[in-house]
Amino acid sequence: MTAVTRRSLLIGGVAGVALATTGTGFPKLEDPFTLGVASGDPRPDSVVLWTRLAPRPLEENGLGGMPDRVVPVHWELAEDERFQRVVRRGVRPARPELGHSVHVEPFGLRPGREYYYRFRVDGHLSPVGRTRTTPEPWVLGQDLTMCFASCAHYGEGYFTAYRRLAEDHPDLVLHLGDYQYEYAAKAADVRTVIGPETRTLADYRLRHAQYKTDADLQLAHSVAPWLVVWDDHEVENNWADDVPEQPDPEFPARRAAAFQAYYENMPLRRGARPDGTDMQLYRRAQWGGLVNFHMLDTRQYRDDQACGDGWKTCADAALPTRSITGAAQEEWLLDGFRRSRSRWDVLGQQVFFAERDRKDGPEKEVSMDGWDGYLASRDRVTRGWVDAGVRNAVVLTGDVHAHYAADVKLDWNDPASSPTVGTELVCTSVTSGGDGNDTVDEVQLRLNPHIKLHSRRRGYVRTKFTARELRADFRTLPSVRTAGARATTLKSFVVEDRNPGLNPV
Ligand SMILES: [Fe+2]
Repeated sequence: MTAVTRRSLLIGGVAGVALATTGTGFPKLEDPFTLGVASGDPRPDSVVLWTRLAPRPLEENGLGGMPDRVVPVHWELAEDERFQRVVRRGVRPARPELGHSVHVEPFGLRPGREYYYRFRVDGHLSPVGRTRTTPEPWVLGQDLTMCFASCAHYGEGYFTAYRRLAEDHPDLVLHLGDYQYEYAAKAADVRTVIGPETRTLADYRLRHAQYKTDADLQLAHSVAPWLVVWDDHEVENNWADDVPEQPDPEFPARRAAAFQAYYENMPLRRGARPDGTDMQLYRRAQWGGLVNFHMLDTRQYRDDQACGDGWKTCADAALPTRSITGAAQEEWLLDGFRRSRSRWDVLGQQVFFAERDRKDGPEKEVSMDGWDGYLASRDRVTRGWVDAGVRNAVVLTGDVHAHYAADVKLDWNDPASSPTVGTELVCTSVTSGGDGNDTVDEVQLRLNPHIKLHSRRRGYVRTKFTARELRADFRTLPSVRTAGARATTLKSFVVEDRNPGLNPV
């Protein structure tokens, strides 16, 4: 835009303002609903409703073109899409210190129901979102369609996978991290990432805003409640607790800024609001008596990657003191296993859980960033669910930009004769890594016979939980560097009740 047209637009804007002041005496805002709407963290009687006001979402200061004042946001929740049966309504202040985000938590809703919601500011109506409450804790008969995804780099492709996921009409969506990437634009990108590598609150706010302007992502948020957990790139590549990728005295401030912007831009409950460098993200969500989701945070409390990170043969990875969850989260998780009466217990988490050895012969070479780099942690968690008598344990994973499906073994020293005690489903990236390809890593499959699927295509995983089985469809797209690709099912597996491990369909 030239300086002249920009100036004349501004003048036009000011003229419009004089005509359109609101009852509050402030100038009327331009349409602030450029980032869509979202919902999340459903319970039987409540669900979080989210939006963030940003009439000019790509402004460099990350403030989205909002004035430095509190703006009242009207919200409505209805049983029908046309808002003829409104069951709750209210007003929430959008505050500058929270990036003009709102997180509404209506209570007293009916369990296992679909609802519709929207927001209104200065006569502007937001898009309509659809959401759900969870069934009551004892209900087993209400099946669950859940899609999960991870790793969406805005520059490396179009978010078509989010659109295809939305078209599956899931009841629930899990996002397992790398919702966004911290990097500045690269020459090879198909879309232009705005702003420098994210370090400040303004940077992270702007990055979230650019992502949220994506129509495919907005659609996916608007069809179902999400349960989100971050991985590393929401802050910085491979960070571990207070240890950044490269030495950086400013890292605590960077981490705090990233947490703040993450909270502002996600449909999270108030309890997740960060306090400086701390944010309570691990939590549980219960889908009736059918599924108990244990959503983990394997970044904030972990010990630093052993042997300098990367793929290593590393004795230190086995040190019993090492933890990927931290002691408090581990105790919370093991306690959750002991208390669970659910048909399925699902770990919604970030990094590869099963062993992935890439070296022939008795010596193992594994990734220090996944659970392979925290062997005692993995043993305690696996034995924890076995000892607690968890009926069906399923681990969900993102991070590795490839679809995988694996049987989880009790003892990785002798996987061939060790019993299968759980199942791991790993979703590929939405876009990270670009189009991907169809080459299968045959060596990896031979060295790790518990791994039953590997694909480097982009996509997501669609699951259906019933009382009798879990079905997983691994969805892939032929391209993400062009928009609008169709999704197809590459491979499906079924896991039967009380029979851990994968059965090809
Ligand atoms: Fe990633």
